[in-house]
Amino acid sequence: MEFRHLGRSGLMVSEISYGNWITHGSQVEEDAAKQCVQAALDEGITTFDTADVYAGTKAEEVLGRALQGVRRESLEIFTKVYWPTGKGPNDRGLSRKHITESLHGSLRRLQTDYVDLYQAHRFDYETPLEETLKTFDDLVRQGKVLYVGVSEWTAEQIGRALKIADEMGLDRLVSNQPQYSMLWRVIEAEVVPLSEKEGVGQVVFSPIAQGVLTGKYLPGQPPPEGSRATDPSGGTFISRVLTDDVLTRVQDLQPIAADLGLSMAQLAVAWVLQNPNVSSAIVGASRPGQVRDNVKASGVKLDAEVLKKIDDVLGPVVERDPSKTVSPEKRP
Ligand SMILES: NC(=O)c1ccc[n+]([C@@H]2O[C@H](COP(=O)([O-])OP(=O)(O)OC[C@H]3O[C@@H](n4cnc5c(N)ncnc54)[C@H](OP(=O)(O)O)[C@@H]3O)[C@@H](O)[C@H]2O)c1
Repeated sequence: MEFRHLGRSGLMVSEISYGNWITHGSQVEEDAAKQCVQAALDEGITTFDTADVYAGTKAEEVLGRALQGVRRESLEIFTKVYWPTGKGPNDRGLSRKHITESLHGSLRRLQTDYVDLYQAHRFDYETPLEETLKTFDDLVRQGKVLYVGVSEWTAEQIGRALKIADEMGLDRLVSNQPQYSMLWRVIEAEVVPLSEKEGVGQVVFSPIAQGVLTGKYLPGQPPPEGSRATDPSGGTFISRVLTDDVLTRVQDLQPIAADLGLSMAQLAVAWVLQNPNVSSAIVGASRPGQVRDNVKASGVKLDAEVLKKIDDVLGPVVERDPSKTVSPEKRP
C-alpha cells in the first residue's frame, strides 16, 4: 500500500481507504463487515471512512467494534456530519449544536477519543459558514478532531471557507470528499484547480461507480444476485448509472484492463489515483475478496495512451458538468 498526504497537511493516509456506506449495519451481516475490515487491515489500508448517518448511525457502531484492539495510532478514522440523525430540526445540518452533539455520538459509537478527519457531509445554506468553521476549530482545539474537511462542496464554497478561516485565524479545510470515477468527473473543471492551489486533497468516493465499473452488470440483463443493485437501500442509489449505454461501454473497457493484467475494479481505482490531487480513493466492499482485489490498484501507473483509450471507449457517457456538485437548498 502506498501513502499520500491528506491535501497539504502533515497527515499521511493510505491511498486506498475503506468506507462502510450501505454495507455495515445494513446490506451485510456483522461477520462479513468485520471480515472486510480485517482484509483491509491485512492489505495495508489504514484509513477508514464512515458517517453518523450511515445505516441510521449503526455503521459507526459496526466499524467501532471491528477496529477494537487495533492500535489507534496506526489508523486514520474519518467521519461526517450534516444528514439527519434524528427527527428534530436540530438533528441535521452544520449548526454549532448539531455538529457538537453529533461528534460526541460518533466518538461514542466509534469507541475512540478523537477522529482524524471530521467532514461536513454537504454545504448547509441555513447556517452561517463562520458558525460551522468556528465550531470545527473549537473541536480541533479540544483535541476531539484532528483535521477538518468537507464533502461535495463546490469550488466557490471551499474557496469562501478558506478565506473566512484565514481571516479569522481558524483551522483550514484540508480535504474534500467528492464522487469521482471514470464516469463522473465533475470536480475536474473547478474543484480540483482551486484545491491544488489551496492545498486541499480529494478523498474520492465511489471510484468503482458502486460496482458498475467492475463490469459485473451486463446490458439488458438483471443485476447479479447479491449485488448492490439488488439491495433494497443500495439499489436506489446505483439505479441511475445502470443504463444500457453505460453498461455496454463499460464492457468495452474489459480488453484494456486485460492488456494491463488488471481486474476491471483495479483499473477503475487506479484511474482515480492518477490524479495527483486525489489523496485517497475510498472503496466499499460487501465481501473481503473485493477488498483484496481492489487494493492491488495501489501504485499502478496508467500511461497517456491507456487514459486516451478509456476516454474513447466511454465517450459521451462521462459526466463533466461542474454544476452537478450540489447540496440541498433546505436541510433534508
Ligand atoms: N461523501 C459522500 O456523500 C459519500 C457518498 C457515497 C460514498 N461515500 C464513501 O465512499 C465509500 C465508497 O463508496 P461506494 O461503496 O459507492 O464505492 P465503490 O467502491 O465504487 O463501490 C463499492 C461496491 O462495489 C462492489 N464492488 C467493489 N469491489 C468489487 C469487486 N472487486 N468485484 C465486484 N464488486 C465489487 C460492492 O458492492 P456489491 O458487492 O454489493 O455489488 C461494493 O460494496 C463509502 O463507503 C463511503 O465511505 C461517501
